[in-house]
Formats: sequence, C-alpha cells, structure tokens
Amino acid sequence: MFFLIVLLVVLSFLFAACKKDVDKSVPTPTNNTPQEQDLSNIPYQPTFTNIDRPANFPIMDIPEDNPLTQEGIELGRRLFFDPILSANNKMACTGCHFPSSSFTDDLAVSTGIDNKAGTRSSMALFNTGYYTKGLFWDGRTASLEAQALEPVEDPIELNHDWSAVVEDLKTTSPYPNLFRQAFGIDNTKEITKELAAKAIAQFERTIISADSKYDRVVRGEEFFEDEEFNGWFMFFDVGGDLPDAECAHCHNAPLFTVNDYFNNGIDSVADLTSFKDLGLGAVTNRVFDNGKFRAPTLRNIALTAPYMHDGRFQTLEEVIDHYNEGIHYIDNVDPLLLQPNGLGLSEQNKKDLLAFLHTLTDTSFVNNPAFQSPF
Ligand code: HEC
Ligand code: HEC
Repeated sequence: MFFLIVLLVVLSFLFAACKKDVDKSVPTPTNNTPQEQDLSNIPYQPTFTNIDRPANFPIMDIPEDNPLTQEGIELGRRLFFDPILSANNKMACTGCHFPSSSFTDDLAVSTGIDNKAGTRSSMALFNTGYYTKGLFWDGRTASLEAQALEPVEDPIELNHDWSAVVEDLKTTSPYPNLFRQAFGIDNTKEITKELAAKAIAQFERTIISADSKYDRVVRGEEFFEDEEFNGWFMFFDVGGDLPDAECAHCHNAPLFTVNDYFNNGIDSVADLTSFKDLGLGAVTNRVFDNGKFRAPTLRNIALTAPYMHDGRFQTLEEVIDHYNEGIHYIDNVDPLLLQPNGLGLSEQNKKDLLAFLHTLTDTSFVNNPAFQSPF
C-alpha cells in the first residue's frame, strides 16, 4: 500500500511536470484566453534586425525606443491585415491600403467602415520610414507610431475605440504570445495600444520600394529608352534642347519627394481663406499655409490613380496637363510653377515625361510576399 501511494505521488509529480512543459511551449491555442494571463514562461528572444538600405537611399532613422525585431514586424503585419482593429470586425488597415495598389485603394477619397466617404485620398505606404517632416497630406502627425493610433478611432475609418481593441487583443490567440515575443511583456494585461502601434510602425518601416527601372538604371543594370531618357532630362531640369518640367524641385530622387509642403496650384479660389480643404494651414493655423499639401512620392505613381489629396485627376496625363498649362494663381502658389506661358511642354515632351514616370514603378515591391496578408 505504502508503495502504491509513493508511486501515485511520483506519478502525479511527473504528470504535473509534463503538463507544465506543455503549457510552456504551446500556450493556449483557443480564442478565449483569459484577460490576465501570465506569459513569462514563453521565451522572449527577440531577433533584432536592420533595414537593408538600398544603395541609392539615405539611412533611415529608427526611434531608439522601437528597434526593429522580426517578432515586432510580424506582429505589426498581422495587426495591419486584421479586422480586429475595427468596430464591425470587417475592416483592417489594408481596407484602404492594398499591397497590389502600392498600398492605396484606387479611390478618389477613401471609404471607411459602413461605406462612409472620407475627404481625402488614401496614401501609398512604402518608404514611409524615411518621411521625417510629418505624415498625412497635411503633416499633422509626426511619427509612424503616432499615426498608427489614429485610424482605429477615426469615425470614418475604423470607428472603434482602442480600449475595446486592446481587450480583444488580450483575449484573442495568438496575440498574447506575439506581444510577449515582440516586446517581452510578462502578462497579457501589459498589452497596450502603444505597443500595437509600435509593431505596426515596425512593419511599415520594412515596406521599402527601391527596385524600379529607374533604380536599375541608376545602378547601371539597365538603360532608359529614348523617350524615358528625354523625360528624365525634363524631370530633373537637365537643360539641353528640352524644356524644364521643374518636377524634381518638389519630387526629388531618390525618394521622389522632398517631403515638404507646397501649394501646387490645383484650386481656383478667391483668396487664401477659401480653400475647401485647408491642408497644412489647418495644422499650423497660418493663413499662408492654407491650400498647401505634402508633395507625395512619385515612386509607383502609375499604380496609385486617381491623383492629388482629393483624387481629382484620373490619369497622369491630366496631372501633366495641369502642371503644363493649368496652374491656378493665388498668393502662395509655389513660384516655380508660375511661368508666364506654363511649362511649354509639347505633346511629345508630355509623352516623354509620362514614359519617365512609368520607370518609377516597382513591381517586385508590390508582389513581395513579406508585405502580403499573413491570413
Ligand atoms: C478608411 C480608409 C483607411 C483606413 C482603414 C486606414 N487608412 Fe491609412 N490613410 C487613409 C487616408 C485617406 C490617408 C490620408 C489621410 C490624410 O492625409 O488626412 C491615410 C494615410 C496613412 C498614412 C500616412 C502616409 C504618409 O505618407 O503620410 C499611414 C502611415 C497610414 N495611413 C497607415 C494606416 C494604418 C497603419 C492603418 C490601420 C491602423 C490605416 N492607415 C487605416 C485611409 C485609411
Ligand atoms: C512646387 C512643388 C511641386 C512641383 C514643382 C511639382 N509638384 Fe507634383 N505635387 C506637389 C504637391 C504639393 C502635390 C500634392 C498636392 C495635393 O494633393 O493637393 C503634388 C502631387 C503630384 C502628383 C499626385 C501624387 C498622388 O499621389 O496623388 C503627381 C502625379 C505629381 N505631383 C507629379 C508632378 C510632376 C510630373 C511634376 C513636374 C511636371 C510636378 N509634380 C511638379 C508639388 C509639386
């Protein structure tokens, strides 16, 4: 009898030990994990990683308090594609930022949850880690971390509230494990919106587009066709017999944006207070900034029609016509755009410029498996 009791005790210890091992390696695979769950048994071994800097690109500033890790990037990717962030559980970030459209949505202005139309066009999401002078068309948000907090509570976008999202993340597998692996938290109760935003920002920093024909020409791997080369001349005001198109002043290589704010003369208004969308002016409260918007990148521009902050132009041909002959005068229109007779581009010049813009398309980026939905 004594022997039997000893055997039972030993066995139950063994069983307990086994069970503990199982808990350690496979933490709760169900969808109903408790709100407070100890995660300290799950290994925290972050794999720190760097952005592979394209040769012709600047160095990206990564915030010290959000270094890139494989685990953080993976969590961010999942959050980006997961409708768990929205009120009706139907819309994710990707709802307005499709990878196949260079992370825009092909609409003039985005439509959010419940099909509510917004007032601005979705923006392409690549190389955003390099944008250090504010995000959005009007620069109202300083960092990707801060930006990622906004869509969830925007009534037109995801129309949810972060406290509810965080509760869902705490109780939905595999998020507790992923937050542990990315940020070393010890308990699900340490999951916060700030950590979620950090992970999304990490993922966004990895979305880099630097393999267009233009890049391959710069690296000496390919050559421009004649039309493209003529377009390149005009885009960068190289001179010669071809007219200057002035584009690079605001959309300069290698990012094809100087990341600054300008009025590019698209609105016909009576005075500086009459813009329908005040743009930068609404952020700085300076009348002279009204109607200024961030000059966006022209990389992958052939993939992101329609164009401008409100999607008013359907095609790149229309955009070129605007710069060539359609600038509307008002006091803060950039002087570069105010040539007495427009840019003076002939029909052939316009075609050449368009051919150059097409060399900025990077299909490898669009199809990169690392940027697709993990679901
Ligand atoms: C309903 C559509 C919609 C959804 C959903 C949405 N976005 Fe956007 N996104 C936009 C629009 C529109 C803009 C431009 C807004 C503006 O300038 O006011 C934008 C701009 C951005 C920018 C700025 C890019 C730049 O170059 O400045 C980032 C980054 C971004 N979104 C990330 C996200 C993330 C992350 C999510 C999910 C948490 C998300 N978006 C969800 C429509 C959407
Ligand atoms: C003085 C600065 C400036 C110059 C010069 C300039 N742009 Fe722009 N560009 C901007 C600004 C600012 C915007 C965004 C305006 C808005 O949406 O209200 C813009 C927007 C665009 C867009 C739309 C981008 C998108 O994602 O919707 C295209 C395409 C474009 N520019 C092409 C060109 C070309 C081609 C040239 C040369 C012919 C040129 N730009 C010259 C400042 C400039």
